[in-house]
Amino acid sequence: MMPDYALLARQLAALLDTRDWLTNSAQTCAFLMQEIPHLNWVGFYLQREPEVLALGPFQGKPACHPIPFDRGVCGAAARTRETQRVDDVHAVAEHIACDAASNAELVVPIVAGDRLWGVLDLDSPLKGRFGDADRAGIEALAAVFVAHSELT
Ligand code: SME
Repeated sequence: MMPDYALLARQLAALLDTRDWLTNSAQTCAFLMQEIPHLNWVGFYLQREPEVLALGPFQGKPACHPIPFDRGVCGAAARTRETQRVDDVHAVAEHIACDAASNAELVVPIVAGDRLWGVLDLDSPLKGRFGDADRAGIEALAAVFVAHSELT
């Protein structure tokens, strides 16, 4: 069943009651893991040095770190600054396998001003888990995180 993304956006906005990006990113991935069905991993990767993503707050199994911009679905999102929606990660040559349970992936870039701040990465064990409505809904949730956070 499709999550009610408009309701989730209001709930997330109410949950994020600080401007601190660290607290808000931890809360955001815990909230997504609780509220969006069929996920095995949700987390943030942060650009803390040029062209490299560092693992940030997440829920799920320990994950790959670091991820250069030229590698992985996360790197593609960081390079292009466009959401990457993958129905079957095993069909994508550049996918980096962190958790063998992952089959579908959605990666939303997070941009602060003109800077790629990081990405929000969601993995699912279900092939084709993320449709276009999920992409739009999860982009809206990422926008709630951005609107509530001081991205340093
Ligand atoms: N699969 C990602 C790596 C991160 S993990 O999924 C947590 C990628 O290809 O960039």
